[in-house]
Amino acid sequence: MDPSILTFDTPEAAADACGDRILDLLEEARKDRGQAAIALSGGSTPRLMFQTMAKRPFDWRGIQIFQVDERCVPPDHALSNFRMMRESLLDAAPIEENHVHRIRGELPPEEAARLYVEEIRGSFHLSPGELPVFDVIARGMGPDAHTASLFQGEPLIGDRSGIAAAVFVEKQKSAPHRVTLLRGVLEGARHTLCLAAGGEKAEALRSVFKGPFDPLQTPSQIASPETVWYIDKNAAALL
Ligand code: 6PG
Repeated sequence: MDPSILTFDTPEAAADACGDRILDLLEEARKDRGQAAIALSGGSTPRLMFQTMAKRPFDWRGIQIFQVDERCVPPDHALSNFRMMRESLLDAAPIEENHVHRIRGELPPEEAARLYVEEIRGSFHLSPGELPVFDVIARGMGPDAHTASLFQGEPLIGDRSGIAAAVFVEKQKSAPHRVTLLRGVLEGARHTLCLAAGGEKAEALRSVFKGPFDPLQTPSQIASPETVWYIDKNAAALL
């Protein structure tokens, strides 16, 4: 099934629409199952969306918040995805601390990954080998079409049975060590919302939607059955 694309005039409009859809999906999930689980990406684009979500009159009770990926830096570091999430959402909305599941970027990468997998297994009550099913996974995309911390040529893109792992991204000089959810978890989400804005994402989006299907080369082609892209008109320029 082709992911659908919603195009907005501005990055703000795309972020607002994506954030509102996320809250609607979490509400539906909680109605169905009493609670909901979401994994949020980092980077810079989601900040606007998180600020919008925090302002909405949303009841956060029963919502478990996880990270899609994290740079292996302390949680107060300028490059920390958790720091961005804390500043724009967690500190601004009534979210219980024990409902937030942080990747411990301050630890050695393999240790951080192991602990994160353990925490996910415990939260989802997984049997050995079972993958978590997130109600929503909110993803972004780099100008090189990476998503999560799965970058072009990353061998782990072929791993569809693991939950999360440490990766080393040579070209990300400022924060090469990362922990990321793996492809099988991304593909298993009930809903995936991808937010991308700005002309610097246009070429990557063209390769996602018009290039050959090859997630090893174009990781943002990784998708779950219900995937919707929220983009602005500049990012849509080559579609
Ligand atoms: C990260 C993110 C990553 C992000 C893209 C887009 O750790 O970098 O999780 O996957 O979504 O890099 O980042 P921008 O929003 O900053 O362009």
